[in-house]
Amino acid sequence: MIVCRSAAELERMREAGRLVGEVLTELAAAVAPGVSTADLDALAEKRIAEAGATAAFKGYHGYPATICASINDEVIHGIPSGRRLLQDGDIISIDVGASLDGYFGDSALTLAVGQVSEGAATLLRVTEEALYKAIECARAGNRISDIGHAVQQHVEAYGFSVVREFVGHGIGERMHEEPQVPNYGEPGRGPRLAEGMVLAIEPMVNAGKAAVKVLADGWTAVTRDSSLSAHFEHTVAVTSGEPWILTAREVSVPVQK
Ligand code: MF3
Ligand code: CO
Repeated sequence: MIVCRSAAELERMREAGRLVGEVLTELAAAVAPGVSTADLDALAEKRIAEAGATAAFKGYHGYPATICASINDEVIHGIPSGRRLLQDGDIISIDVGASLDGYFGDSALTLAVGQVSEGAATLLRVTEEALYKAIECARAGNRISDIGHAVQQHVEAYGFSVVREFVGHGIGERMHEEPQVPNYGEPGRGPRLAEGMVLAIEPMVNAGKAAVKVLADGWTAVTRDSSLSAHFEHTVAVTSGEPWILTAREVSVPVQK
């Protein structure tokens, strides 16, 4: 069952989303060569606690940290570590989820650390563009697969590929609710979108082939061909008009720092 949220619920989800956006903005500002992914995790943990919110990922199926920090060929679910220092030329995806007053927000972005290759910069730009094209499709009357179709069309036009094994999701009183939101597929399939549905839309895009594998830590997903991977995510509400990006960041974060 896909839940449609009332206006009052959406206001509460806006608060959770706003917090997640603020945390991501702070983390993005802290990204620099020499910073460890554990440093970023600690910052997120502190900021979420100060807001009276709860980190959504910590303890989720045993996940050990507040954020996911996935560098270069890591697609998603990279576990923060004090031994993992960011280097000039890396790309890092940061994923943050939190619940506030009973509702969840979930958002991710990928950033360049210092100067990155032209190919890496293009991958970040195209993946973020794919997210915004997907969000444009989150309108009442459209169908779920219209979202993934928009992602796939955009990404493949650049020769990049869409990860199949992981998908976006409904979100609300739990982090993962129905429906699943794949980032590929034919248009016009799946449930029809209706006012009040809230979706975490999250394209994961590889510079090389689509295949991924999970490392021995049980979490970190990497590209099989070791190519770079990017991930952008927003929590989005379907309304009677424009989609609402609940995790929108007031301060825009430059993808190329
Ligand atoms: N944004 C990711 C998701 O929707 C984050 C989950 S990390 C986990 O699944 F550790 F909580 F699984
Ligand atoms: Co998510």
